[in-house]
Amino acid sequence: MKGVVLTGGHGTRLRPLTHTGPKQLIPIANKPNVLYCIEDLRDAGITEIGIILGDNMPEKVREFLGDGTSFGVRFTYIDQGPPKGIAHAVGCARTFVGNDAFCVYLGDNLLKGGIRPMVEAFSRGDDAAGILLCPVPHPERFGVAEVDAQGNVVGLVEKPKAPKSDLALVGIYLLRPSIFPFIEALKPSWRNELEITEAIDHLRGAGRAVRAFRVTGWWKDTGRPEDILEANRLVLEELEPRNEGEVEPGAKVSGRVRIGKGTVVRKGSVIRGPAVIGEDCTIGPDASIGPYTAVGDHSQIIGADIEDSIVVGDSVIEAPGKIVGSLIGRHASILSADGRGRPGRVLIVGENSTAYL
Ligand code: DAU
Repeated sequence: MKGVVLTGGHGTRLRPLTHTGPKQLIPIANKPNVLYCIEDLRDAGITEIGIILGDNMPEKVREFLGDGTSFGVRFTYIDQGPPKGIAHAVGCARTFVGNDAFCVYLGDNLLKGGIRPMVEAFSRGDDAAGILLCPVPHPERFGVAEVDAQGNVVGLVEKPKAPKSDLALVGIYLLRPSIFPFIEALKPSWRNELEITEAIDHLRGAGRAVRAFRVTGWWKDTGRPEDILEANRLVLEELEPRNEGEVEPGAKVSGRVRIGKGTVVRKGSVIRGPAVIGEDCTIGPDASIGPYTAVGDHSQIIGADIEDSIVVGDSVIEAPGKIVGSLIGRHASILSADGRGRPGRVLIVGENSTAYL
């Protein structure tokens, strides 16, 4: 089986973070989302992987992923260009896929427990497609499956106004080349995209077997800032603690905490797990980090208090007051306004930024 990972789309709901790269590269617990997808494929024995590139700085995806050797897989890059829909992206992989079965993985999905059992079951059988379902509180935000009492899929609809079930389609699809004629016959949907949900529903309508699998752990689609923070919390919950940095006397580290090489936690600082601090960071003096916080490489957090947040990296944070539920992009500075001569807050924020003061 081959893998096809989607890294296109515009990630508009995640601006300004997606002004500097695709959303699939946003780090969750200090690891880009797309890498979790690739590890799931690899751990299911899928090492030939096509990476679908969009038009929002695709070179950053190539630069980060390389040829795949360092992740134990082999990548073939496939240009999609502007986002014309998930089915369009899958259609772009037709030559790469050849006659093989394949697993499509949306690069902004995150799944606990991996995909191995589902991939193995699909490989053993002769179903035309395999989909993964997860009950959610707001099914209207997703593709939704209607399943009969025997567990058979009887309908698939993309973002229905009146969902017939609470079962969302997870962004992981097991397919065979038999899907391609159904993709070619698609018409753009109400959101002007070619929908994979519709292609699989047409396959089902033509009498081909579509098998439904259920999520056993948790699943997150990281399309919105609050989803990214939740995914961060979920991954950090299971973090293996490890300290490769230096914790000075007078600093305190408790709970599940990972500290990277070259990082120094200075006196008076407190790190409460779960939390991850990358490499070459300076934490403190007198900083408070966590719980549920990820700080990327080359950051300086001085005298600040950060909880339930992601600091992507290369940032300086040196401001009084608690920072909570925040996403702080690369090379951001959050500094004290004291001593600047004028009372008040000083903001230099880019396009599509949000600040809650
Ligand atoms: O996450 C699960 C949901 O993903 C499913 O329940 C829906 O049925 C499915 O349509 C999809 O919905 P979204 O609205 O979340 O799709 P989004 O536009 O966010 O795109 C999903 C991923 O695919 C994302 O990583 C971007 C990538 N993509 C998207 C499009 C439209 C591409 O690479 N190319 C594209 O043309």
